Amino acid sequence: MQTNAVIENILTRRSIRSFEDRRIPRADLELIAKAGQYAPSAMNRQSFQITVVQNEEIIKKLYTAVPKYMQGIDPATYCFYGSKNLMLISDLADKEIGQMDCACVAENIFLAAHSLGIGSVWVNQLRDTSDGPEVRAALHEAGVPDDHRVWVIAALGYPTAPAADKEKVAKIHFCE
Ligand SMILES: Cc1cc2nc3c(=O)[nH]c(=O)nc-3n(C[C@H](O)[C@H](O)[C@H](O)COP(=O)(O)O)c2cc1C
Repeated sequence: MQTNAVIENILTRRSIRSFEDRRIPRADLELIAKAGQYAPSAMNRQSFQITVVQNEEIIKKLYTAVPKYMQGIDPATYCFYGSKNLMLISDLADKEIGQMDCACVAENIFLAAHSLGIGSVWVNQLRDTSDGPEVRAALHEAGVPDDHRVWVIAALGYPTAPAADKEKVAKIHFCE
């Protein structure tokens, strides 16, 4: 099958859940966020926001607050996999389709990061906890608009080890 660099980048991206303890340089973060900004959005509303957080205090406030509003999360280990670089992808809380817009943004971010040798993973828990008062306070401090829900956290960083390959089994069906 003929391929190219873009397709190769898509085929080799895998979620990374263990990161080196270091920051991603600003120029790379700007490029990755720009890739997110160029995602499609329903009716081209572009009402989403990408909030880039490297402030360790705010990251800690977030991962400390989330388990207070969600069952089944162990506060002793929950820390966004140790990522020092978060992109909070949010949209208007009352805009149901914002979830889909943000998913498109997230995938652009994951792929752009991967093309730069930076690992990433989707962290989902803010979707259901954005309005927990302590979470909301930390989001406010980070600059996320108060009327937004964070549909995705893209946790980013330099992988400590290559990701295990995963078999992709979802069906592709041609009807000719
Ligand atoms: C909607 C959605 C929610 C996800 N939530 C989480 C999450 O909360 N924590 C996590 O570690 N991975 C999460 N993931 C990552 C998936 O587990 C991962 O994409 C899947 O196992 C396939 O692996 P791959 O990304 O390496 O191809 C999520 C992915 C999606 C699309």
